[in-house]
Amino acid sequence: MTSSMLFISLVIILLMINSSAQISPCTQADANGCPPAGVWGEWKTVGNTKCDMDCGGCGTLYQERECLSESICSCTGSSTRYVACNFDVCKYPSQKSCCTPYLPMVLNGTYTCGPAPKTIENSACCPQKDLLSAWAGWELIGSQWTRTRKCLTASIECPCTGQTLTETRAACPCAQPADATVPCANVALGKPIYYRAIVVNDATCTADLILIGETQGNKTYCKTLTDGYGAARGFQGAMLIMREVSGTCTTDTVFDCSAGVDPVNKRQNGTFTCNPDTGNWVYDYTGKEINAIVQGVWL
Ligand SMILES: *[C@@H]1O[C@H](CO)[C@@H](O)[C@H](O)[C@H]1NC(C)=O
Ligand SMILES: *[C@@H]1O[C@H](CO)[C@@H](O)[C@H](O)[C@H]1NC(C)=O
Ligand SMILES: *[C@@H]1O[C@H](CO)[C@@H](O)[C@H](O)[C@H]1NC(C)=O
Repeated sequence: MTSSMLFISLVIILLMINSSAQISPCTQADANGCPPAGVWGEWKTVGNTKCDMDCGGCGTLYQERECLSESICSCTGSSTRYVACNFDVCKYPSQKSCCTPYLPMVLNGTYTCGPAPKTIENSACCPQKDLLSAWAGWELIGSQWTRTRKCLTASIECPCTGQTLTETRAACPCAQPADATVPCANVALGKPIYYRAIVVNDATCTADLILIGETQGNKTYCKTLTDGYGAARGFQGAMLIMREVSGTCTTDTVFDCSAGVDPVNKRQNGTFTCNPDTGNWVYDYTGKEINAIVQGVWL
């Protein structure tokens, strides 16, 4: 063998070693970047992890695998299998050195029964687009709100290079509720009148909405309910109109204006607590998640 031939064979061997360590990109993919059979994770032994035979690949173990791409594209094929285990060659006086379909061979310098079943299918490939889990809820870690998501294919050596997997922020992770004036224009017995932002306390992740309990300029914030019970009592309430996450608009009478808690300013707060899992504010009094608010008046 000439030295150049030796060099070429070395390069080929190195290339083979390199390519076997990595899963290649999928050549076929649908609009979500998924290969036709979806993306399966590695086979993992479940339940009894001890092989019931000690040689020849004669025993079996039960294995399962997870469809890593389930949230984006489903997988085809089985998620369970029985695989052979303990591939040491059986010694005399065994009838056979290896159980079918395994054959005695030298692998990696060791006399063994092979070829061993793969933990990753030969057909595995890295999807053309990164497959990421949904973000998990926000969590307070130290003084930072943190949320994470996973690269679904990391376990089969297809990293989601360049994707953000962790986000942190100092501010409470619930966003300002929107203005419910338009979406809740037709709420029962009420009418939107004044939108203002909630005042967020980032340290506690709670918020106040200052509700006005008096007439200001030409704006009336407290009116008697002309219908039913309220009218009979002449009750004037400061109304909070909210759009719940379900899309329903609801009202709450936060306080009685005539006996306002703060008799000078006639202000009182509606209070909210952030749900870090969903990123929505919860109105403390009803426990309902909301995404839009406005102060209203009774009709
Ligand atoms: C091959 O043998 C070496 C040394 O015994 C070991 O470190 C390595 O993990 C083996 N590789 C395989 C694929 O079994
Ligand atoms: C109402 O909320 C504001 C802003 O968070 C706060 O400064 C004020 O003390 C609150 N008032 C009451 C009565 O809780
Ligand atoms: C209410 O007052 C504002 C100014 O304070 C004025 O622009 C508006 O036209 C008034 N609305 C009515 C209905 O009088």
